[in-house]
Amino acid sequence: MHTAPIHTPDADSERARWAASADAWDRWADPMADLADKLNRPLLDAAGVAAGDRVLDLASGAGEPALSAARRTGPRGLVVGSDLVPGMLAGAVRRATAEGAQAPVFTAADMTALPFADGAFDRVTCRFGIMFVPDVAGALAAVRRALRPGGKAAFMVWGPLSGNALFAEIAAAVAGHLGEDGSLDPLFRFAEPGLLANAMIGAGFARADEADLTPVRKAPADQPFWRAALEMSFGHRLGGLAPDRRAALEADIAARFATQATGGVVPVPAHVRIVTGTAAA
Ligand SMILES: C[S@@+](CC[C@H](N)C(=O)[O-])C[C@H]1O[C@@H](n2cnc3c(N)ncnc32)[C@H](O)[C@@H]1O
Repeated sequence: MHTAPIHTPDADSERARWAASADAWDRWADPMADLADKLNRPLLDAAGVAAGDRVLDLASGAGEPALSAARRTGPRGLVVGSDLVPGMLAGAVRRATAEGAQAPVFTAADMTALPFADGAFDRVTCRFGIMFVPDVAGALAAVRRALRPGGKAAFMVWGPLSGNALFAEIAAAVAGHLGEDGSLDPLFRFAEPGLLANAMIGAGFARADEADLTPVRKAPADQPFWRAALEMSFGHRLGGLAPDRRAALEADIAARFATQATGGVVPVPAHVRIVTGTAAA
């Protein structure tokens, strides 16, 4: 088993990637909310988020799962959402305004240098963020310090590319049209079972557990259901692309999925892992 991360991302490239795709994340957050909720619920369950909790959400992007966490913690709780890139949080702040009194507060913060007192939170959540951080050991140690004794942190990461059909097909098409640049690699940095759990133990968590989810989405064959993933995960490569080249890329993606359709439905398997760390009591 590996003891070091396989793909260590570059801090400047990651900041640039997320700044470039912030608009796409904001635009797709509401249309994708129902699908995203299917991932939020098991993540919040794994972290044990309950009424009255103080919750820190890392890498909140357009606002999830911080917004969902705040609905659980209720008026007696507190949810702080955070992200490295202020531009990613613009939509999160707007969505929070619509939530009223139970809204999370959002602040820009690098998860390797959290600006909070030790033991300030009962729970920490992070959906698809930890893989983009160059210094994972530093981030996990900062998270452990931010938790109270006995507190829990839950991270959602992607399983292997081969189990995530949406990324696999889109990545193959993008590589064919625009060339391979390796920018998808960080997404699958913790695809190997045990890798992130071991890193949590190394960072001082008393125990770490992991659970895999392998949902299969039934996507409508006559809809461009793949466009959200294309724009959110490859947005940094689409800017400035000539319309005819964009159209050719999209036609290729549509054709790839069309060959997999049966009865108007494309089965789209995903593989997600939730890794939970518990701080010593
Ligand atoms: C895939 S998005 C996930 C956003 C959101 N949690 C969701 O699931 O919709 C990854 C996010 O990680 C953030 N990020 C990357 N490096 C970070 C760091 N060192 N500290 C905090 N956030 C970071 C990016 O700005 C981006 O918003």
